Amino acid sequence: MKAIKVGLLGIGTVGSGTFQVLRRNQEEIRGRAGRGIEIAMVADLDLARAKSIAGDACEVVDDARKVIANPEIDIVVELIGGYGVAKTLVLEAIAAGKHVVTANKALLAVHGTEIFAAAHAKGVIVAFEAAVAGGIPIIKALREGLTANRIEWIAGIINGTTNFILSEMRSKGLDFGVVLKEAQRLGYAEADPTFDIEGVDAAHKATIMSAIAFGIPVQFDKAHVEGITKLQAADIKYAEQLGYRIKLLGIARRREAGIELRVHPTLIPAQRLIANVEGAMNAVLVQADAVGTTLYYGKGAGSEPTASAVVADLVDITRLHTADPEHRVPHLAFRPDAMSDTPI
Ligand code: NDP
Ligand code: HSE
Repeated sequence: MKAIKVGLLGIGTVGSGTFQVLRRNQEEIRGRAGRGIEIAMVADLDLARAKSIAGDACEVVDDARKVIANPEIDIVVELIGGYGVAKTLVLEAIAAGKHVVTANKALLAVHGTEIFAAAHAKGVIVAFEAAVAGGIPIIKALREGLTANRIEWIAGIINGTTNFILSEMRSKGLDFGVVLKEAQRLGYAEADPTFDIEGVDAAHKATIMSAIAFGIPVQFDKAHVEGITKLQAADIKYAEQLGYRIKLLGIARRREAGIELRVHPTLIPAQRLIANVEGAMNAVLVQADAVGTTLYYGKGAGSEPTASAVVADLVDITRLHTADPEHRVPHLAFRPDAMSDTPI
């Protein structure tokens, strides 16, 4: 079966990681998806940089609409970010009958209800594993792994930039501004880092998780949002002396009156696992009635960790478009007797 064709909008930090992961692991990915996944077209404003990453392997254009208009493209991956042009392009891709994969939590938290309704009406998928907690498959866990449960609450470190800043300030005594610049250099921070440090990015992610966990519309405007900009080095030091760490938590909880959604710096006893999540790592605790508490930990930002989630969504969508039922249902494809003879 011929490869599924992907059009990439934006080849910056996450876009270039997606390109690299798909290229490096193409054989394994083909085996798991049931057919190849090929980035056939890339759109980016910086043509020269885009060509230097994509090489001659695919067509590179500076007009994203050319990708959407290409009838060969089956899936559009939006990695531009923001609510402006990205919203228009995602809605246009849906209207053109393309599946969409996006890492854009800002877009989904604010306009998700409209976007998912449009996708539903058109019969296409909008997949967004990369939008929450980078490489941690938390969307799949909430939607599939915990599907038997009534979820009571979710609490997580879901912004890598602020966790990196708080960790470096505590362990190395570094200045806020210096660490923020380093987070930007490493590709963790948003284009506008205000979203990170003011808690907005974490609130976007908490909003998306709450919609899945509690079956409610995405309502970012209902979140209480407080970032880390008012914290001083002395707060971190005094917390430590009292046996606590300060972490920016995103919390979504069922209450009698409805769902509570909040993001703010939180004192956590230093011996707790989540208090020891350092650097740009993320961790999400989920309390659910049947399973109890589960914890998901991993890289929450950066090029390839986020690309890992983007590619997972591409594989999921591709599986639905294989002729082979074994790949549409991964359980059927699990054949230990037919696997490679790599020695163990
Ligand atoms: P970058 O800024 O690194 O990349 C965005 C790219 O899109 C840039 O190359 C930019 O070009 C290009 N672009 C801007 N406008 C257009 C347009 N109209 N048409 C085509 N290309 C365009 O962002 P990231 O890769 O970091 O983030 C992408 C998305 O992923 C965002 O939604 C972000 O929130 C999300 N995300 C990011 C993570 C991370 O760790 N970085 C983790 C999880 C999610 P130019 O630079 O010339 O403007
Ligand atoms: N700016 C985000 C963060 C990227 O630091 O967590 C990952 O969503």
